[in-house]
Amino acid sequence: MYPLIRNRRLRASESVRRLVRETTLTPDDFLVPLFVVEGKGVKEGIASMPNYFRLSLDNLEKEVKELWKMGLCSVLLFVKVDDKLKDNKGTEALNPNGLMQRAIKTVKNACPQMLVMTDVALDPFSSYGHDGIVAEGQILNDETAEVLAEMSVSHAKAGADFVAPSDMMDGRILTIREALEDEGLINTGIMAYSAKYASAFYGPFRDALDSAPVDIANVPKDKNTYQMDYANRHEAIKETQMDIDEGADIVMVKPGLCYLDIVREIKNEVEVPVAVYQVSGEYAMVKAAAEKGWLDHDAVVLEQLTAIKRAGADIIASYFAKDFIRTLG
Ligand code: PBG
Repeated sequence: MYPLIRNRRLRASESVRRLVRETTLTPDDFLVPLFVVEGKGVKEGIASMPNYFRLSLDNLEKEVKELWKMGLCSVLLFVKVDDKLKDNKGTEALNPNGLMQRAIKTVKNACPQMLVMTDVALDPFSSYGHDGIVAEGQILNDETAEVLAEMSVSHAKAGADFVAPSDMMDGRILTIREALEDEGLINTGIMAYSAKYASAFYGPFRDALDSAPVDIANVPKDKNTYQMDYANRHEAIKETQMDIDEGADIVMVKPGLCYLDIVREIKNEVEVPVAVYQVSGEYAMVKAAAEKGWLDHDAVVLEQLTAIKRAGADIIASYFAKDFIRTLG
């Protein structure tokens, strides 16, 4: 007795595999994170993120033009701020002429159709390296949400299309939405980091922005009181649903690869686009293994990105966006 149904028929050639392939990546899937610094002609390498750079505004301009030519049409901006400008309340984040505000304008001038999203959290501006205001060993929730709302308005006024709060304070999506509405910024979208886990995979990013929590008395050493416990699943659904109810246009799961079960559950639950952030530590692992010759870089990158999309990602924020385009040939 031979099998009548032979699944291998649909795998017999590259042509048939292409015909029945369920998940394909395109440049449209990607949101490109970019790190911005002060200065001129700066393109600084980041030790733990090989081939990724901090760019000064002139190089940012070149970079977004190149991304646009490659077919990449959305960027997510982060800034590295001088220590002298940091304080507990992230005051510099509200500077209308701050680095983020100028970066937004730079991108929009260079490439008006490029969709600009901005990270909204205090950590790059915080003298303590926390996403919120620190008081007596705690991260203040409601006071932080107010600052995040002002920050969002400031980014929107500078020309951001979407603000992306990555802080995990409770109720901040509603606070931000209301602040935007009050200012008549009705078309500014919100991409909420909804299920953002307290993860060790953010290490290289904190190197990139010099934004790690500082080691001084009465300042929490980690972000466990606001970012989610990675052991939890139901909580991710609750967080996401709440962000949607508060006005999030897009929700996000972060990190990527270790959390694809969460991505699928959320994708099955919600009616808004789901973004996934393949974070800095995930990038670093692949680069390190590839450098040692232990993994085939491009093959692993494609497999991981496809898995993220297969799990339910409508949008992938990834440091591999340009690597992916290169694989298209
Ligand atoms: C800041 C922020 C972080 C990341 C995105 N926004 C770091 C953190 O929460 O500590 C991580 C991104 C990455 O690791 O690539 N709120």
